[in-house]
Amino acid sequence: MANVLITGATGLVGTRLAEILLEKGHRVAHVGRSKRAGPVPSFLWNVEHGVMEIEALRGIDAIVHLAGAGVADERWTTKRKKVILESRTKSSALLCKTLKNIPNSVKAVVSASAIGYYGFGLSDQLFTEESRPGTDYLANVVVQWEKEVDKIAELGIRVAKIRIGIVLSDKGGALKEMARPIRWGVGAPLGTGNQLLSWIHIDDLCRMFIKAVEDRQITGVYNGVGIKAITNQQMTKAIATVLNRPLLFPNIPAFILRLIVGEMADIVVNGSNVSSQKFQQAGFNFQFTDEVEALNDLFKR
Ligand SMILES: NC(=O)c1ccc[n+]([C@@H]2O[C@H](COP(=O)([O-])OP(=O)(O)OC[C@H]3O[C@@H](n4cnc5c(N)ncnc54)[C@H](OP(=O)(O)O)[C@@H]3O)[C@@H](O)[C@H]2O)c1
Repeated sequence: MANVLITGATGLVGTRLAEILLEKGHRVAHVGRSKRAGPVPSFLWNVEHGVMEIEALRGIDAIVHLAGAGVADERWTTKRKKVILESRTKSSALLCKTLKNIPNSVKAVVSASAIGYYGFGLSDQLFTEESRPGTDYLANVVVQWEKEVDKIAELGIRVAKIRIGIVLSDKGGALKEMARPIRWGVGAPLGTGNQLLSWIHIDDLCRMFIKAVEDRQITGVYNGVGIKAITNQQMTKAIATVLNRPLLFPNIPAFILRLIVGEMADIVVNGSNVSSQKFQQAGFNFQFTDEVEALNDLFKR
């Protein structure tokens, strides 16, 4: 049993991760921008001012670092881009500073990262952990985020980074956005529909984080994606099938999406094919390898 402190625990991944950790008999604490009522100990930090309640570290064996402003929550203005970057770099730096200055028993930090690291790829290009980073805005964010996280390893603490793909959850994120128009009968593939989505069921992702907490061999960077990417069109069709809704409309062209959401449209009209082989070779077995099975499981919850 481990005592695990989670940053950004109120988010999509953190909420489910805490549930599964508790089910497995681990103890969980939260650190975030506001205190949470409930049985789980909750602590405050202020990332902008670089301060954190030091009691948060008491008795902690491992930290799971998920905090970061939502990438798709708002239009990418210059101000928002700064928030997206600094909520990740400054929170990682704050963890590092606190771990360095306060006596603690933390043996591992497992941080979220993102497959945005690789930029966007062509369908015949498979990204592995060895692939070079992309050059677009998000890729730059992820590179700087990982660089801050890596500084924690210099303290002698085991560090693992999980480059998360498109998380499928019934509670929010990409799937909720994709399913909404389909439920209303106005769903359609986006852009060409041929862009590849490297998806993962949220429970598989949480099990990856837990393996990275528990297994001392897990160190460095791992892709947090499922076995096989599928196209936007295949995913749209699978959601419509599972929800038993028709798909009547032609693809929504990329330029229309850019008019609506601006530069952020890049995340949905482009894709990337990302390999999960490294984590599998480390002994991880996926519960969900088929998108229809994953969607059925999520939508019946
Ligand atoms: N979901 C995905 O498909 C996906 C894909 C790739 C990467 N990721 C990465 O994985 C991590 C977890 O994902 P998620 O979907 O759970 O994210 P989420 O639902 O957006 O939650 C992130 C949490 O970060 C904290 N946060 C938000 N804005 C912040 C700010 N300005 N400064 C400091 N903390 C802030 C919040 O926790 P408090 O309110 O408790 O502080 C929030 O609940 C994120 O870093 C995300 O970029 C997710």
